[in-house]
Amino acid sequence: MQIIKYAFQQHGDDRGMLVALEEFDDIPFEIKRVYYMYDTKEGVHRGFHAHKNLEQILICIYGSCDVLLDNGKQKKIVSLEKPYEGLYVPNNMWREMYNFSQDAVLMVLASEHYVEADYIRDYDEFLKFVKET
Ligand code: TYD
Repeated sequence: MQIIKYAFQQHGDDRGMLVALEEFDDIPFEIKRVYYMYDTKEGVHRGFHAHKNLEQILICIYGSCDVLLDNGKQKKIVSLEKPYEGLYVPNNMWREMYNFSQDAVLMVLASEHYVEADYIRDYDEFLKFVKET
């Protein structure tokens, strides 16, 4: 299972740092939605779903968190702790996010609008779905 983690170009000078993200250039899809999680309570695990037709880039723009990716055959854990790192999450990939630092802001760039019907929230259903596809 291949993990795609981007190191975005950092524009730094004596004022500080800046990262710019452009769709189809730094990000491999059209960005239709951006959302972010913050004030995540200690010990909380989020996610627990896969998408049938949605790609994402996860960026922990502040603080840190861990992401478990599971394609139904293999699982991998990726730590996000730099504001210039982006984790690519393709469709048909189960994800869980946890170990959020108190100050963590996890931003998600998504290739589609929010469509509840695109979610697979049951793990057994996910395993069945990836076997069939
Ligand atoms: P949820 O899917 O539970 O988040 P996570 O994947 O981190 O567990 O979403 C939390 C709430 O936010 C839920 O009521 C749905 C809503 N929501 C939107 O309205 N739009 C969105 O783009 C997302 C991701 C969630």
